[in-house]
Amino acid sequence: MKVDGENYRSIWLSEDGWSVDIIDQTKLPHEFVIAKLTTVEEAADAISAMLVRGAPLIGATAAYGLCLGLREDASDERIEILSDLLIETRPTAVNLRWAIRDMQELLKPLPLAERVAAAYENAARICDEDVAINSSIGDHGLKIIEDIWQLKMQKGVVNILTHCNAGWLATVDWGTALSPIYKAHNKGIPVHVWVDETRPRNQGAHLTAWELGMHGVEHTLIVDNAGGHLMQHGQVDLCITGTDRTTASGDVCNKIGTYLKALAAKDNNVPFYVALPSPTIDWEIDDGVADIPIEIRNSREIDFVSGSDPTGKVVEVRILPASSSSKNYAFDVTPAHLVTGLITERGVCSASKKGLANLFRN
Ligand code: MRU
Repeated sequence: MKVDGENYRSIWLSEDGWSVDIIDQTKLPHEFVIAKLTTVEEAADAISAMLVRGAPLIGATAAYGLCLGLREDASDERIEILSDLLIETRPTAVNLRWAIRDMQELLKPLPLAERVAAAYENAARICDEDVAINSSIGDHGLKIIEDIWQLKMQKGVVNILTHCNAGWLATVDWGTALSPIYKAHNKGIPVHVWVDETRPRNQGAHLTAWELGMHGVEHTLIVDNAGGHLMQHGQVDLCITGTDRTTASGDVCNKIGTYLKALAAKDNNVPFYVALPSPTIDWEIDDGVADIPIEIRNSREIDFVSGSDPTGKVVEVRILPASSSSKNYAFDVTPAHLVTGLITERGVCSASKKGLANLFRN
């Protein structure tokens, strides 16, 4: 997608042919900074400190991280050690584990001398595939927005609520939840996005608002608790969120607060869709509430708020009494029965074992 008129992906192989460039998302929206990854440790740190984040982008970064780490030694033992290092960075998003497995399955049968070149080739393939998948999600989701636009007799705008950032910054390009919105906007359907700020890291305020603005999509930032009120007053036509892990039976794990939006949507008959690429499906588990590990992040993310002061300098301020404590649950699980449909690269299905199995028989 475009940044100030120039095309960018969120991650790419540098011109030197081996190091990896990323957009440092901790600096947005105040600064647009490109950071360079030269070692697997830097890749792991970029994932855990959230310079890169969003399930698909974490997977792509882990794949390139493995490439960086194997340059000196591509033995089986090293592959195992580096895979563990990368997998431990963030426990909830399943794409990371998926990407590492994909790399391992390709690399281990190969002779040592061929592994590094093959690793880079496969990391690039994972990135290209992510872009194609997300574009396809956009095409399938676009039909849902078009239908709502017809139902509204093409009057006003289609109001869509989203949570966290599931835009191009969370993937290699296009995004998942935002991909149908970009496609609708590009097609001339008037869309307006209610952007949940998404405490504590404010991915909505910092990232979703920034990328929608860069693409010229109308949007309004709201506090995380405003969605229910807007739905009660007919101001939300549909919700679309992303997901970090979806179980084989359609339970959806996403950024903390997603579940509450789904409850409010159900109570107000607002369609609640989740957009996901197939590597986000965890075929090994059914019960998301019981079986998905929920990342607990540093409490500092809750206790402090950061932003730019009137001079443009980024500052952090404490909002919690120093004597109080906090706990930073990063994700929650929305049970399948609250989800209207899953938007995948193969089409839209019900959030159920049958729905997913019909689309992904293989
Ligand atoms: O903690 P984050 O910012 O990595 O969480 C991201 C999300 O929750 C996204 O909604 C999810 O990864 C889907 S992204 C396409």
